[in-house]
Amino acid sequence: MMIRSVRTYSSSISNAAVFPSGSTVFSLIQPTGKIHLGNYLGALSNWRDISNDERNSESRFIFGTADLHALTSVTDPAKLKNSRREAIASLIAAGIDPERSIIYHQSSIAEHSQLSWILTCLTSMGALNRMTQWKSKAKVEETDSIFGDEILGKTKAGVLCYPVLQAADILLYKSTHVPVGDDQAQHLELCRNIASIFNSTYKSNFFPMPKSLFTANKKIMSLRSSEKKMSKSDVDQNGCLYITESPDQIAKKLRKATTDSIQGRLYFDPEERPGVSNLINIVSGLTRKSVEDTVKDLEYMRSHKQLKDLVTDLIVEEFKDQRLVYEELMKDVSYIDQIADRGAEKAKKIASVNMRAVEKLIGLD
Ligand code: TYM
Repeated sequence: MMIRSVRTYSSSISNAAVFPSGSTVFSLIQPTGKIHLGNYLGALSNWRDISNDERNSESRFIFGTADLHALTSVTDPAKLKNSRREAIASLIAAGIDPERSIIYHQSSIAEHSQLSWILTCLTSMGALNRMTQWKSKAKVEETDSIFGDEILGKTKAGVLCYPVLQAADILLYKSTHVPVGDDQAQHLELCRNIASIFNSTYKSNFFPMPKSLFTANKKIMSLRSSEKKMSKSDVDQNGCLYITESPDQIAKKLRKATTDSIQGRLYFDPEERPGVSNLINIVSGLTRKSVEDTVKDLEYMRSHKQLKDLVTDLIVEEFKDQRLVYEELMKDVSYIDQIADRGAEKAKKIASVNMRAVEKLIGLD
C-alpha cells in the first residue's frame, strides 16, 4: 500500500536542530499503548522536524519501537504485537519518512541484547540504584533503594537494568544525538557514563558521547494533575490525551483539564499556575512559538474556557490528517511490517559492523 497523503513539514521548519554532517540521530519509543501528546511534543514531532529538514541530509536518522523495554510492563503477546504496529503507524502518520529515516523494531536486531550484556558487566549497581525511573515503575518512593529487602523482592531485574539496555540501543549505532523528552535526561547521563567506562576500560575512543536533544516543550504534564508528567499509565485517563483520539474525545478531555481560580489575564507561571502553564506550553509546542511569544498572543484572553477552546482546536487540527493516515495504515498491517522489516535490514548492517568491532576490542573475536 502506498500512503501518499503523509504530510511532510520540511518546508515550514526553521527552528529544527541542525547536525554536523555524518551525525547519527537515534531514539526509540516504548510500544506499551497508544502515543500521547507528551510523546508527540517531547519527542516525535522533533524526530519528524529534524529528519525532514534538508539541512540535515548528511545525517543518519534511526527511530523505532523499544519493544524489548516494553517487556518490563507488557506480558500480553497479542497486545504487544498490536502496540508495536500502532507505534510504527503513528511514526509514519506523524510525518517521519521511512525513505529518509530507518524505522524498525529494537527486538529485530539481536545485537541490542548482546551489547546490553557487555555494558551490564561494566555498570555498577549503585549507578542503577540512583536512577529514578525504575522506582516509579516498581511503584516505590524516589528515596527508596533497591537494597531494601521488600523492594529487592518486588522489583524485577529488567526494570532495574532497563537503562543499560537503553544505553546499548544508543551506543550500538555510535549515535551522536538523542532526541527525547525531559524524563529521559537521567538515562542519557548514565549512557554517557557507561560509554566513558567502556572507552577507558578498553583504552579506545570507540563510543562517541551522545548528546541529549530536548524540545522547548520537553515536559508535558497530565491534564488533570499538573505535578505529574502526562503518561499512559496514569490512573486518571482524562489526564492523558492520545494523538489518535476523536475531536469529541479531545474536547471532552480539555473541558475536564484542571486549571485554577485566578481570574483575568492568563500568564505562564508553572509554580503558581501549573494547569494554565501546561496548556500554554502545549499551545507553544503546537504553534512552534516560544512560550514568551505564546503568552503575548494570548493577551486578549480573559477566561480559562477561551484557552481550553484554543488548545482543543489546535490539537484537533494538528492530528486531523495524521489520524486518517494512521487509520488507513492500521487497515493494512502488512505495509507497516514491510516498513519495519526494511528498517531492520538497514539497522542490521550498522549494528553488525559495530558489534564485531566491540567484540574485537573486548577480546571476543
Ligand atoms: P517512552 O516510550 O516512555 O517515551 C517516548 C518519548 O516520549 C517522551 N515523553 C515525554 N515528553 C514530554 N512530556 C511527557 N509527558 C512525555 N512522556 C514521554 C520520552 O522522553 C521519550 O523521548 N526509555 C525510553 C525509550 C527508549 C529510548 C531508547 C529512548 C528505549 N531505548 C534509546 C531514546 C534512546 C522510554 O521509555 O520512552
